[in-house]
Amino acid sequence: MALALEHDVPLQPLNTFGVAACARALLRVRSAHDLAALAADAALAARPRLVLGGGSNLLLTRDLDEMLVLRIEVPGVQEMAPSATHWRIEVGAGENWHALVQQLVARDRPGLENLALIPGSCGAAPVQNIGAYGLELAERFESLRAWDFQRQAEVTLGLAECHFGYRDSLFKHEPGRYAILSMTLALPRPWTPVMGYADVEHELRSRGVARPTPRDLFDVVVAIRRRKLPDPAVIGNAGSFFKNPIVSRDKQAELARHFPSLVSYPLPGGRYKLAAGWLIEAAGLKGATRGRAGVYERQALVLVNRGGATGAEILALAREVQAKVAEKFGVELDPEPVIV
Ligand code: EPU
Repeated sequence: MALALEHDVPLQPLNTFGVAACARALLRVRSAHDLAALAADAALAARPRLVLGGGSNLLLTRDLDEMLVLRIEVPGVQEMAPSATHWRIEVGAGENWHALVQQLVARDRPGLENLALIPGSCGAAPVQNIGAYGLELAERFESLRAWDFQRQAEVTLGLAECHFGYRDSLFKHEPGRYAILSMTLALPRPWTPVMGYADVEHELRSRGVARPTPRDLFDVVVAIRRRKLPDPAVIGNAGSFFKNPIVSRDKQAELARHFPSLVSYPLPGGRYKLAAGWLIEAAGLKGATRGRAGVYERQALVLVNRGGATGAEILALAREVQAKVAEKFGVELDPEPVIV
């Protein structure tokens, strides 16, 4: 079967930073058959690959001349037989994540509300184990189907095999090995709201909601995100650019002594997570502009494209943020997006 390769495809509309770049060769993947066909073409199969979903966790710094871009467009949302404890939903990797969350609330299959408005596709969600407002994807995950390029075969991976961690998974540790095709979510029934996150509780109180419905929770999360985070359709960005760093108890204590307003959260096991947004703001970089790249005014953890920025400009700003935070606090910030 001949592969429907596309050539010289502009990637600007396919990454939420809105950075201009070009894919010399791109293949749209609608099912495992497309990847089986790719495997049968020895020359193409040997090329380095970039798996592209919604492009919301990606910083492109150059044209992709030698790489084959696989744009994942597997469709479909299907309800599977429920278990005694969970509703089960299978979703194609190409479906938009937020549209899925919204659709499931409307269909009375709630459980993902805290993850509303996270940009990107369903196939990208497990790669970085998306999380927000006290919930991570891993807590709603049953299994996924992926193409394994090492074995050139379709595989099913369960929760334990995906090695989920904070913004982390197997797929970050074996880059290029898998293309995720679909995932099955498990939504606990009966539904109970995930509470305990100060912003969410505060917003519910201010709306006079004591016992939220799924719809209430969904609306509140959307409202909080709209206030703090730029809409990629308007201002190019990839959400949080850095992970919140994790440090030892001693390091946290030393920082808190010098900087009493430090924001940190204790973790099980005695370590601490620091709010990277606080560190960047305290390093004086909130709202900074370098060329056409910037640190977002309302949330310092987000780098933005102020219009026409190149990937290299955004990367240079990211390096400056890392250097200033390292110099002032002795803390290393790890980027969250994939940098090409
Ligand atoms: N803060 C500042 N200055 C800033 C930004 C934040 O001082 O410019 C302080 C805030 O005052 C707050 C603390 O930092 O006390 C935490 O801020 P926020 O609640 O906004 O959350 P975050 O830690 O900055 C994380 C996730 C977000 C997620 C929110 C809500 C990471 C890297 N980011 O941000 O995820 O939406 O919590 O749960 O874990 C993403 O990953 O792309 C993302 C947007």
